[in-house]
Amino acid sequence: MKSSLRCFALLSLLWLPMAQRISAETAKPMEKKAFGTTSDGKAADLYVLTNKNGMEVSITNYGGIVTSIKVPDRSGKMADVVLGYDALDGYVADKVYFGALVGRYCNRIGHAEFSIDGTKYTLAKNNGDNTLHGGIKGFNKALWDAKDVSKRDEPALELTYLSKDGEEGFPGNLKVTVVFTLTGKNELKIDYSATTDKKTVVNLTNHSYFNLAGQGSGDILKTVLRIEADKITPVDSGLIPTGDLKSVQGTPFDFRKPTAIGERINADDEQLKLGKGYDHNFVLIKNKPNGLTLAARAEEPTSGRVLEVWTTEPGTQLYTGNFLDGSIHGKGGVAYTQRSAFCLETQHFPDSPNHPKFPSTLLAPGQRYHTTTIYKFSSK
Ligand code: GLA
Repeated sequence: MKSSLRCFALLSLLWLPMAQRISAETAKPMEKKAFGTTSDGKAADLYVLTNKNGMEVSITNYGGIVTSIKVPDRSGKMADVVLGYDALDGYVADKVYFGALVGRYCNRIGHAEFSIDGTKYTLAKNNGDNTLHGGIKGFNKALWDAKDVSKRDEPALELTYLSKDGEEGFPGNLKVTVVFTLTGKNELKIDYSATTDKKTVVNLTNHSYFNLAGQGSGDILKTVLRIEADKITPVDSGLIPTGDLKSVQGTPFDFRKPTAIGERINADDEQLKLGKGYDHNFVLIKNKPNGLTLAARAEEPTSGRVLEVWTTEPGTQLYTGNFLDGSIHGKGGVAYTQRSAFCLETQHFPDSPNHPKFPSTLLAPGQRYHTTTIYKFSSK
């Protein structure tokens, strides 16, 4: 009797690691493919992450760009739900930041300047009088070092980049690490971290353009959106925050109850006119600052696909593809027309370096910048 018990215990011990091995085999190993050569002769790669459910995310180390996200609809039919291009040259020429990893400072810095401890830093003006998305050559045009950091059944890609002191006018050597993890719960989790050797400002985001019916399948006006925000940072004509926080109550910016994006997008509203639609930072309701909370939930009624955005960031920019005008031909040659996608760019507020009352984007030597954003997909 005793010996059969011992035998059973031994068998269970052997079985346990075997069971772990089996579950580890359910996610496909990350695939690495050549993705072309940049004009200065550098080779870029494409990394394909597939989870145990068959959800697939492709990321290139050129610009840390998420080039495709394939997820099922309510009947299990897969579609690529982000706008982009078929090949590297599209991303090299791109000016609208499809899928991009945006930095060193995403969104706008007013008059292309800011000061730290009385020293003024002047940046490139690439958006009227302002700096947009890191300047002329932002992080989205850099070649990042890539490493497969997959764990058990969660494929993960780590990208690192050293943004040198003075790059695009920003002070300090900034070491940036971004980890993309595809979880078994159909989440694309992005962890951003950075350290500096001189005081600087940092604000990193991902600029995916979502169309939950599938990229290239028309506008997103019927997509029903909820945003966990009771205020926005209203902007001036250059889309720079005025510094005020404006309540969404009674305005087309109130997405606290799920509302179709198109329902009020053409309303007679000064802020909507300035943005040519939604192009605004929403101040997220946070019960604990820096805690991971739900920022937004989007549901596409035809396919049933649902996207939830979770973040540690205090804000999210809702941009409804107002500047797309059909002149860009993306994947499969499809013309991307106005409002054929929406972005939820989680971030600190635009122009924070010039608004001391906004949550700070300052990073000092010895500190570590760390933020997390999760794009979670499901269907209903
Ligand atoms: C952001 C900006 C928009 C636009 C897009 C890129 O979302 O807020 O105004 O510049 O990026 O086209």
